[in-house]
Amino acid sequence: MHTCSAPGKIILFGEHAVVFGKPALAMAVDLRIQSSARVSDQYSVNGRPMRAKHHAYISAAMDEAWNGPPLSITTRSGLPSSSGLGSSAAVTVATVGAILAEKGEFEYESVARKSFEVEYAVQRRASPTDTSTSTHGHGVLVSPDKEDGFLWRIEKGSKSWNVHHCDVKRLTFVAGYTGVHASTASLVEKVRNYVTSDSDGRKTIDRIGEIVMEGRDALVAADRPKLGMLMRENQELLRELGVGHPSIDNLIEACKDKCYGEKLTGAGGGGSIVALTDDPEAVCGAISAAGGRPMVITVGGRGVVLEQ
Ligand code: PMV
Repeated sequence: MHTCSAPGKIILFGEHAVVFGKPALAMAVDLRIQSSARVSDQYSVNGRPMRAKHHAYISAAMDEAWNGPPLSITTRSGLPSSSGLGSSAAVTVATVGAILAEKGEFEYESVARKSFEVEYAVQRRASPTDTSTSTHGHGVLVSPDKEDGFLWRIEKGSKSWNVHHCDVKRLTFVAGYTGVHASTASLVEKVRNYVTSDSDGRKTIDRIGEIVMEGRDALVAADRPKLGMLMRENQELLRELGVGHPSIDNLIEACKDKCYGEKLTGAGGGGSIVALTDDPEAVCGAISAAGGRPMVITVGGRGVVLEQ
């Protein structure tokens, strides 16, 4: 039997623009999912027979990474699902890692590639940001050009992304879940329609790309005021792209006096916000009072780990 654990993520800058080949910056969070794989006499997940529809990511991980006898998979999650913190990427990466280890083929780049294929098969995932961040940990810059800290390059059809290590100080953020679930695929589609038909849309995407690179420098320097300013500008641009939501504005309004900056994280249309603050307790209180579900998260920890 082999066991891996993998972290969730937050996207700090660049969601949606990354789909159009612009850079994005994401960080691993200190909440993890564990997955164990062992050869068995039938395919099962957490003691029940595996069903491809119900266990979509695990079943796709087996298709992508395994060709031996039946496997039994056991998962344990410390990451709330549908919270915008990357639980589907974390379960995918931990499971792919455990399966590859069971074959004696555990290797980071291979985990990242296969995990992207799994997420792509299940949800036509638009970029490898989540799966590469869950695999590598720390901070991850995804960009069209090769930069310092290059890790690997992932290609799909005519698109390609260079994935880089980014140094992240152990900063504390507060995530706030709005309670509103939105489909990433339909939001990606909505943005695609806008950007391909309107030159303002393309300008918005270009500016987000610049923010990401300015944000990377501010992150390496742990320059909180600069990070906060860039988060607010990125949030405005995401609203212009049409992925804002009243539930997001509500949480932002509730905590903005206590933060350097705050923005939606991930696909938007609901989902979660992330706020940078020196006073996480006060921000959690404000988010709760506004009807959201707060969570204090530390970023920059380890990626996938093969546990002994
Ligand atoms: O749904 P999330 O939190 O994993 O974020 C989606 C980010 C997008 O840029 C909108 C899509 C993508 O695959 O990068």
